[in-house]
Amino acid sequence: MKSLEWNNGKVRFLDQTRLPSDVIYIETDDEGKIANAIRDLSIRGAPLIGIAAAYAVALAANKCGEETPSGIASYFDKVINLLAGTRPTAINLFWALNRQKNVVEANKRQGLNAVRTALLQEALGIHEEDAAMCEAIGNLGADLLPNAASVLTHCNTGMLATGGIGTALGIIRKCWEQQRLKHVYIDETRPLFQGARLTAWELRNDRIPFTLLTDNVAGFLMQQRIVNAVVVGADRIASNGDVANKVGTYSLAVLARYHDIPMYVAAPTSTIDFDIKNGKGIPIEQRNPKEVTEPFGKKVTPDDTDVYSPAFDITPCDLVSGIVTEKGVLSKPYEQSIRRIRGMASS
Ligand code: MRU
Repeated sequence: MKSLEWNNGKVRFLDQTRLPSDVIYIETDDEGKIANAIRDLSIRGAPLIGIAAAYAVALAANKCGEETPSGIASYFDKVINLLAGTRPTAINLFWALNRQKNVVEANKRQGLNAVRTALLQEALGIHEEDAAMCEAIGNLGADLLPNAASVLTHCNTGMLATGGIGTALGIIRKCWEQQRLKHVYIDETRPLFQGARLTAWELRNDRIPFTLLTDNVAGFLMQQRIVNAVVVGADRIASNGDVANKVGTYSLAVLARYHDIPMYVAAPTSTIDFDIKNGKGIPIEQRNPKEVTEPFGKKVTPDDTDVYSPAFDITPCDLVSGIVTEKGVLSKPYEQSIRRIRGMASS
């Protein structure tokens, strides 16, 4: 089962807001619908939103009526801007859009048909590359886990969030395949329950044994030595190794350090922002307060309750035991290991 695919001139995707109760696929040839799906988290997870945006640019190509190089360029600038405005934190979105922008630049003088073909090729390539990156991350990361691994993870980093088996969840899947995984603990991941709804759904489908926790149980779990590793994904990694990931990741990292449990971050190199010095430069998306005051449409707070709901937080690089990329496992000092990997990363 794929979370998103190109199907005969259309994009077909699983509506993740409906999971796990309804498994509903949506098919569209409208880039605006893809933008909305990213905005409302029907399509989510850093790598997957990049893939979806790349396909959306390819879809838009079919509606382009421009013939001159400058007309073509300004048409796609508008499309790319629309998609870039959907979510601010995951760099994979901007990375994929940048690749499509370069494709337009390189092909606009050959005419619209050449641009169209090249944009689709690029989107399919981005998708395939991501699947391969997940495989590599899975294998490299599984090697880091102890035998009888009992792993805590946060949010959803699996096939619903990527073009392949997932990043952190890819590592968990590989470790299970190798019969070295004892158990997975999943944070429910408030306020949108990506852990409870999506990771639980994926693990259940794969028959991997798991237990669901409310987000605030992690400390007690670690205190009892029930988990021996924490593995999470990332939405953006700064060039010093600071990590933006689903809010709650920083708390896990502090707890893991206190309890002397390794905390690994798994992400493809498309998640690294080589231009940002540290985590302070990463824009953090703020979510609608209603997601907190009215979970599943039921109001749980008094009127006018003030809410602070960042979608992501920043984990300082010092708290990260290793960053698992498709090019290898990065270790401290991250500034150096990230600089070394720069030339090897996909453009
Ligand atoms: O808001 P979401 O659900 O898009 O957030 C997703 C995460 O934070 C994931 O951990 C991250 O994108 C990595 S997915 C491989």
